[in-house]
Amino acid sequence: MSATNLNNATVLVIGAGIMGAGIAQVAAQAGHSVMLFDMREGAALEAKEKLSASLNALVAKGKLGADAVAQTLSRISAIGNLQEAAAAGLVVEAIVEKLEAKRGLFQQLEQIISADCILATNTSSISVTAIANGLLHPARLVGMHFFNPVPLMKLVEVVSGLQTEAAVANAIFALSQTWGKVAVHARSTPGFIVNRIARPYYAETLALLQEQAATPTVLDACLRAVGFRMGPCELMDLIGHDTNFSVTQSVYEANFFDKRYSPSLVQREMVDGGLLGRKSGQGFYSYAADATRPTVAAAQAMQMPIAKTLWLHGRGPLADALQAACERALALVPTAAPALLRDESSDWIGLEIGGCQLRMTDGRCASQLGAEVAVFDLPLQTTQDTVLAWAPSSRASAAWTAQAEQCLQALGFNPQRVADTPGLVVARSVAMLINEAADAVHQGVCNEAAADAAMKLGVNYPAGPFEWLSSWGAVPVCQLLDALDAFYRGERYRASPLLRQRTWQD
Ligand code: NAI
Repeated sequence: MSATNLNNATVLVIGAGIMGAGIAQVAAQAGHSVMLFDMREGAALEAKEKLSASLNALVAKGKLGADAVAQTLSRISAIGNLQEAAAAGLVVEAIVEKLEAKRGLFQQLEQIISADCILATNTSSISVTAIANGLLHPARLVGMHFFNPVPLMKLVEVVSGLQTEAAVANAIFALSQTWGKVAVHARSTPGFIVNRIARPYYAETLALLQEQAATPTVLDACLRAVGFRMGPCELMDLIGHDTNFSVTQSVYEANFFDKRYSPSLVQREMVDGGLLGRKSGQGFYSYAADATRPTVAAAQAMQMPIAKTLWLHGRGPLADALQAACERALALVPTAAPALLRDESSDWIGLEIGGCQLRMTDGRCASQLGAEVAVFDLPLQTTQDTVLAWAPSSRASAAWTAQAEQCLQALGFNPQRVADTPGLVVARSVAMLINEAADAVHQGVCNEAAADAAMKLGVNYPAGPFEWLSSWGAVPVCQLLDALDAFYRGERYRASPLLRQRTWQD
């Protein structure tokens, strides 16, 4: 039986790389005695010296107290031999991401540590069940998945394999909280929570790039405008296309080549060509010293086109927000402002001026809906940023197209014209994030609250997938996915059974 209260445990961290050093710091700051081991001679000591330099720099800046830092550092000892590890009550492994290496290490450790010592792995992609296979006591092995940089990122995914004892997972959950983290339970499945649910954030943008729907600059601007800190292209450049591609590929393979997780040819080309992002100096953007990042044009202030009436169609919070934007825009029309009328019985959300329609995307293309029709993206703007993707029907006249754009500008948006593609940019990305989260919950990987917390804290999303679902509604999300599915005809956009069930409740 493993120890269930780890508050006073001596912690052994194995692997003194970027993650191991961070884990050692957090454990020592929480008051634990920490042993740090690395198979490369001198690496553990170097990691401690580096940590000492960075913490002392924070003391010099007045951000940390000298005493607290001295105490933290005094609790960490670099050890040169695993035999010294017998006193550990908890082992956290952060070595190379290879199954055989991790398995071999834990098997070796079982010969050294006590019977009630808990074994935790910081793996980001390997099955916890597989790592435990071959251990004398597989029930005491659990995933303790931190995010980089460990001292700053709040999330810990506590990952249970098939044989992990519930008490062991609960002990790591409680310990993570005492270390100042937010813990979430996850079942060991490919990508766990964050790396699984986040896949569509990259995949939808890569798909849009492949069909030439918009530039990286526009796609990034659209997603930043709804509160993502970084657009997908700049984020993939930061992560490195090689790393991002290999995570996607491993999730794809681990799901038996389910088309939903297909890697992208666009990214494959970039990896093959050595365009790895920031680290190689060139990805979607250039990182040369003299490079300037392209940006979208600034918003233009415009007045509503002259018309007798402006109809606002649809119901729900998004239609209400659009009505408020219309009221603000009309207040700026000096004379002969059109009357604003609302038709809540419509099955679409958007505006109608003189018989021409501007519709919020429901997953269908503007050209499918008529001639003088434009579709615009999901206006989830939570920032001052007003960028919004839109597309007119291919049959709309040039004059009408100009008027539609003016209308969006008058409503306070900075419209960015993209190809007439189903679900445009934000709506399809967010719908697919919701769908992936719904499937994760449907398959028992985590619960809804864990999915929301994980995405907000693990990758800084502006809202959790289930929070988006409750503000947007299961019916429109499912409709959008069904429209994408009908258009592309493949496995990628199939709606999660959980989402489909939700539409019966709405
Ligand atoms: P790293 O390459 O910075 O450090 C790994 C360290 O482990 C090296 O110092 C290496 O000498 C040592 N090592 C390798 N094999 C060993 C063995 N058999 N015994 C003892 N020491 C050994 O790697 P990093 O980035 O710290 O990653 C470590 C683990 O954490 C991996 O499993 C990785 O997937 C996971 N992880 C990494 C994240 C990241 O953003 N870098 C985020 C979350 C998890």
